[in-house]
Amino acid sequence: MKLPSLPKKMGRRHRPTLGLDIGSHAIKLVEFTGTGADRTIRRIGRALIPDKAIMDGSIKEPEKVAAVLKALLNNCQPRLRHASTSIAGYSVIVKKITVPYGDEQEIEDNLIFEAEKYVPFEIEEVYVDFHIVERSNSEEERSTQIFLVAAKREIVDEYATLIHEVGLTPAVIDVDAFALGNAFEGAFGGISEPVALVDIGAQKTNLNVVSNGTSLFARDMAFGGYQLTETIQEATGLNFIEAERVKIAGTRDKALYKDVEAACNQLCTLWAEELKKALDFCRHNSQPDEQPTHIFLSGGAALLGGLDRLFSEGTGLPVKIFDPFRSLKTDKDIDPEYCKSIAPQMALAAGLAMRTIDR
Ligand SMILES: Nc1ncnc2c1ncn2[C@@H]1O[C@H](COP(=O)(O)OP(=O)(O)OP(=O)(O)O)[C@@H](O)[C@H]1O
Ligand SMILES: [Mg+2]
Repeated sequence: MKLPSLPKKMGRRHRPTLGLDIGSHAIKLVEFTGTGADRTIRRIGRALIPDKAIMDGSIKEPEKVAAVLKALLNNCQPRLRHASTSIAGYSVIVKKITVPYGDEQEIEDNLIFEAEKYVPFEIEEVYVDFHIVERSNSEEERSTQIFLVAAKREIVDEYATLIHEVGLTPAVIDVDAFALGNAFEGAFGGISEPVALVDIGAQKTNLNVVSNGTSLFARDMAFGGYQLTETIQEATGLNFIEAERVKIAGTRDKALYKDVEAACNQLCTLWAEELKKALDFCRHNSQPDEQPTHIFLSGGAALLGGLDRLFSEGTGLPVKIFDPFRSLKTDKDIDPEYCKSIAPQMALAAGLAMRTIDR
């Protein structure tokens, strides 16, 4: 099966798709009517994934995940049949490289040859695609900086099969970090200054530094809310479900609260250090005018109180919580307060729902 489409083809086309962010903790669904300034939230919902059914970006228990997705579709009743989803993890390689071609067709024709130099898998085992970052303007030297994207076929096929299985058509299979960038562009339009988008899920965190609608640096980091719940368990002796509940809803038990707060602060400080290292790496490999001036946090774990302050202290950058719906209207059946309360967790799903197809 051909990889339906990766970021370079996006943005040219005009009908929205159903955004499905299939995470290891929850599936998030967003459907818009219209595009650009007319975009309106028509459907929104989320459903929990059973424990360990999705691990390291791979669907380990397809029947269970399909059952959850079917139930979510049943609840939300989306009208669009073409769905966009995204993948991340060890099986997806995103690498910024410079290729000696100036023309898009030429890049496409030579992509496999270029990919072989960088991809640590057999080339027959991957789908490859690219996303143009910058073209060289010089007369003598024709070159283009691209994000090379290579994704293991078996992983892409797992997600495409799941979408077929529930009666939808896979329109776009994106990469998490690029879907996040798309959500930001949709929410802020042509904002020019570079920002770091950080989406903290359950098992991993996507970082995407964007400027003027272009991705400058993209990386996944191996931390997330699941780790936080485990840390609370270790510090308090609570079981996983209790620890998860205390993490999300807090507790009136003062002694317990103190232990939970101390454990969370310690781990989140380590996350901030890891993020700072990634941002320092990005800084060393980019121009002075490409340095991020702000961090925007999203993902379910970004809802944790105080995380923005710890990240700001750890990285030295101002941190804001990202609301992908900030400039959007809601349909009459949709509660705007509900959308607001879960907005950061819906960032990727929103970015995916903003992917359009030509139909
Ligand atoms: N209010 C809250 N406070 C703190 N953590 C929260 C809150 N709500 C959700 N979470 C945590 O957010 C995580 C889920 O976020 P999200 O839905 O973005 O993950 P995911 O996309 O399914 O995971 P991944 O991308 O890592 O596969 C869980 O660890 C959950 O406990
Ligand atoms: Mg996620």
